[in-house]
Amino acid sequence: MIGSFRGDFVAAGTALSQLGRRCLTRAYRRLRTLFRLAIQPPTPAGTAFDAGFDGGSDRSSLWTVKHDLAAAMHGEAAKDALKLWLADMDLPCCDAIRSAIEARARRDTFGYTFQPPEMWQAVVRWLSEEHAWSVQPESLVFAPSCVTSFATATRAFTAPGDRVLVMTPLYGPVQHAVTGLGRELVRFPLREGADSGSGGGTGGAAAGTRELQMDLESRLGLLLPTVRLVLLCSPHNPSGRVWRTPELVALAAACARHGVPVVEDAIWADWCLWGEPFVPFAVAAAEAEASGFGVCRSVTLGARNLRTLAS
Ligand SMILES: Cc1ncc(COP(=O)(O)O)c(C=O)c1O
Repeated sequence: MIGSFRGDFVAAGTALSQLGRRCLTRAYRRLRTLFRLAIQPPTPAGTAFDAGFDGGSDRSSLWTVKHDLAAAMHGEAAKDALKLWLADMDLPCCDAIRSAIEARARRDTFGYTFQPPEMWQAVVRWLSEEHAWSVQPESLVFAPSCVTSFATATRAFTAPGDRVLVMTPLYGPVQHAVTGLGRELVRFPLREGADSGSGGGTGGAAAGTRELQMDLESRLGLLLPTVRLVLLCSPHNPSGRVWRTPELVALAAACARHGVPVVEDAIWADWCLWGEPFVPFAVAAAEAEASGFGVCRSVTLGARNLRTLAS
């Protein structure tokens, strides 16, 4: 397990360096500005809000996967590395969240809970307002995590020995789920296409960078008939590539043709950069179906505690 983790670490690092440090710095600055604008709470006049972007927070003795496991695995090499392999914040948790957790912890008991209708209404409203996706509450299922949900979907859609296609580089634990379930992992390496040449709002890439492509007409198109399930990471982590409607419609049409369902890992849906909107795969699949390309079954896995199901 550690060996393949190391492989993913290296693969993700290579992909990131290909995309270029300039792109990364730009993305980081944008994110920082976004954060400052989005989460800066009203502050009393004259006091500055400190989100802790510059100092980080003390995570010593917490056995963190991001820092401590990286050090255990890579030793000195991990010391000065930018640890982008795990979506794990070094920023202090904001006060509102901390207070809510503290208030809950002060209650006497910690029994089983359920998800009240108000929560589902909030999820439906969020998907509609943020992603123009109209979802019926009955299509939503609560699940503990993205990776376990993907494993559940893999068990539902495939049998041991079946081939499951993932597009790499990709978050390692998702890949381990496939092999752990006795399915054959088919890694499809995304490759860069022509220079985007534009950036800044036109396609999930900064100006002058090359976008990763699915190559549906050639490489991916040839593999599809040989697999039983496709995992689509959308937007793609670690590249940040945001898939556009025509690409998703084409994927849905091809998968419908071969009867291959798609599991969409949309854990990063709320984090599209460069102004590119997240297009839910289910929306594209509906468009493909309406255009006569047939039905492509799909499941979308959302951010923590907001797993969504659509078919
Ligand atoms: C693409 C992707 N999928 C899944 C996960 C993890 O999901 P979870 O912790 O909910 O299983 C991550 C975490 O960074 C991720 O980047």
